[in-house]
Amino acid sequence: MSRIISVHAFKGGSGKTTITANLAARLAAGGSRVGIIDADFRAPGMRVLLGLPAPRPQRTLNHYLWHEAELEEVIYPAPMDNLPGQIILIPASGTLEDIRRMSKEGYDTGLLHNGIKALTTQERLDFLLVDTQPGVEENTLLMAVSSDLLLITACPDYQDLNGTRLLMQAIYRLAEPQIALLVNKTSPTSQPERLRKIAREHLDLDILSILPLADAIIEKAGRSLFVLEHPDHPWSQAIDDLAEHLLALRA
Ligand SMILES: Nc1ncnc2c1ncn2[C@@H]1O[C@H](COP(=O)(O)OP(=O)(O)OP(=O)(O)O)[C@@H](O)[C@H]1O
Ligand SMILES: [Mg+2]
Repeated sequence: MSRIISVHAFKGGSGKTTITANLAARLAAGGSRVGIIDADFRAPGMRVLLGLPAPRPQRTLNHYLWHEAELEEVIYPAPMDNLPGQIILIPASGTLEDIRRMSKEGYDTGLLHNGIKALTTQERLDFLLVDTQPGVEENTLLMAVSSDLLLITACPDYQDLNGTRLLMQAIYRLAEPQIALLVNKTSPTSQPERLRKIAREHLDLDILSILPLADAIIEKAGRSLFVLEHPDHPWSQAIDDLAEHLLALRA
């Protein structure tokens, strides 16, 4: 049975896309078939990280959701040489016109839910990871809470703490999904126990992963899969642990 995992955050920049892409790479390295939906219509970035060329014109998730393309037409296999598994991407459109059109017109939310279901079965996916649009917009949250697991990313600062608290209020008004917190970009002096205590007291959440700030990720400039190039780095090892956790969910 496939598992649907949404990766969401209150605000941008906490590492949703980086974590989603690297987690997918780890899972594919272990032999899984992984789908990624780039549902961040405001600032799509997943395809660059996966090293894919620009999608065909009018053949993106946007066009599927506007009833202008079939689901099969918006699926792109990622070039994962030598990995036993596979990653497929359903990219959002990166053109100015489509980004603006999406924010003006929105999309057929029922079609997104249908598409997610159809993908998991038709493509025989072990995991479907959804990189969402950050914030508290209701359609995004409705999609996120219907996942098997909702991963919330945040940086260890008070802006993110306050924002994540607001996000949790918005989520619990809709449903009570399985949620886990990923704290990314922690400093070497961050004390894990202190972070865990803050998350429990202020958010009533357990931290599933603590991922360090890594200069080496910044140096890659968002163009490659860090876990495959630096498997022994502590950040990659935290992603490995996260992948193990997801694999245990499937068992
Ligand atoms: N642990 C880390 N250490 C250093 N840099 C990181 C780390 N995680 C992510 N980054 C960098 O931070 C920036 C933001 O990451 P990313 O694009 O994944 O965030 P995001 O949550 O998807 O943002 P948005 O919501 O705007 O799409 C990128 O330049 C990425 O390379
Ligand atoms: Mg992103």
